[in-house]
Amino acid sequence: MTTNRTFTMLKPDSVEKGNIGAILEKINSAGFRIVAMKLTQMSNKDARNFYSIHRERPFFDELVSYMTRGPIVAAVLEKEDAVEQFRLLIGSTDPAAAAAGTIRKLFATSISENAIHGSDTNENALIESRFHFSEEDMF
Ligand code: RTP
Ligand code: MG
Repeated sequence: MTTNRTFTMLKPDSVEKGNIGAILEKINSAGFRIVAMKLTQMSNKDARNFYSIHRERPFFDELVSYMTRGPIVAAVLEKEDAVEQFRLLIGSTDPAAAAAGTIRKLFATSISENAIHGSDTNENALIESRFHFSEEDMF
């Protein structure tokens, strides 16, 4: 795992709306290489662990229920300066504040149901990638 990698999840709303293909097209067009990818569903325990940093926040239960209600696409992506470049591609947490052309502007519904996750630091990218993939799943 190098610092040129980040981790993403296409969240349940993106899968429900049939937006997997369109979002992956944006990711590919922006020059990210897919290192690992799978369709999977997080358990309640998985989601509580994954988002444990937010456990004291008022939206935590809503976030866990959203992230576990259906399948997600989990993926590891590679590009120079991947973490920051991917956060720019996905846009602000709240789609109303997201820049034009960003994935959240195009595909998110609200600050709660915002289509996609992107790691916020290199350290978290590594932790989150290992949460979903073993080393032999990364190419
Ligand atoms: P993410 O971790 O999913 O990439 O999102 P983010 O960094 O842009 O935002 P973060 O502050 O880490 O929040 C994690 C996720 O919690 C939900 N959220 N809901 N109702 C609310 O006010 C609220 N705030 C955050 C979103 O799904 C957000 O992506
Ligand atoms: Mg975050």
